[in-house]
Amino acid sequence: MSGKTILVTGAARRLGSVIAREMHATGANLVLHYRQASAAAAALASELNAIRPSSAACLQADLLDVDALPLLVANTIAQFGRLDALVNNASSFFPTPLGKIDLASWDDLIGSNLKAPLFLTQAAAPHLVATQGAVVNITDIHAERPLSGYPLYCAAKAGLLGLTRALAIEMAPQVRVNAVAPGPILWSDSEVFDSAARENIVAHTLLQRAGCPRDIACAVRYLLDDADYITGQVINVDGGRTAHL
Ligand SMILES: NC(=O)c1ccc[n+]([C@@H]2O[C@H](COP(=O)([O-])OP(=O)(O)OC[C@H]3O[C@@H](n4cnc5c(N)ncnc54)[C@H](OP(=O)(O)O)[C@@H]3O)[C@@H](O)[C@H]2O)c1
Repeated sequence: MSGKTILVTGAARRLGSVIAREMHATGANLVLHYRQASAAAAALASELNAIRPSSAACLQADLLDVDALPLLVANTIAQFGRLDALVNNASSFFPTPLGKIDLASWDDLIGSNLKAPLFLTQAAAPHLVATQGAVVNITDIHAERPLSGYPLYCAAKAGLLGLTRALAIEMAPQVRVNAVAPGPILWSDSEVFDSAARENIVAHTLLQRAGCPRDIACAVRYLLDDADYITGQVINVDGGRTAHL
């Protein structure tokens, strides 16, 4: 991936930062998108630039602002001159019990998990075509098997999975579009699972353990760097949980 440029959304913390580090280790230049986590994004860029000078840059945007998405792509091109891969990782995640769903929740969950990946990919498409690039969308195993209490999030991720397959058609043969669907990797602060519920979820994995962020990053690296004949696919990285859900 040496000399190539990868844009990762939500790259400052948690899974996004591990994906960014993994892809940087392949020799690529990284654009670290963030919304609020400016200090974490700056620290990660410093870490990566200490390894290879001028190989990482931070760009701020609220992905709910659709007008900001072409700018994010334009600033990536201004920084590194090309775009070879886009990882749509940023996401909001919170419960939306039926009866309490409002438009603000719709806008946030559908906006970050489905609308932004679509309009960002659309803005990136000419550059990805030029470089014969690739897109990886980070979905969720609950795109196909909904999680109780999270109907909007699950619908948004189901949309993103459908979009992955549709854009694989639209962007072929120049650009490959795939998805990685994590299972239990890192618990979110906004999750309502108590420790018993978490243990129950982990017990449902065939491998009897939660995954780690690098499991997701390795799947992304495989799809971007070593999967030239794969498009329109999703890899479940879930310890086998969906094999018997
Ligand atoms: N963690 C898991 O076990 C798990 C399981 C299944 C699926 N996933 C999926 O894997 C991906 C990464 O998971 P994660 O747990 O690391 O994610 P996360 O911490 O919940 O969110 C990642 C980042 O998304 C950014 N973000 C949220 N709304 C945004 C908006 N409107 N505009 C711009 N950025 C926004 C935030 O950036 P700032 O902090 O800079 O504001 C946040 O740091 C997500 O797509 C998630 O759905 C994760």
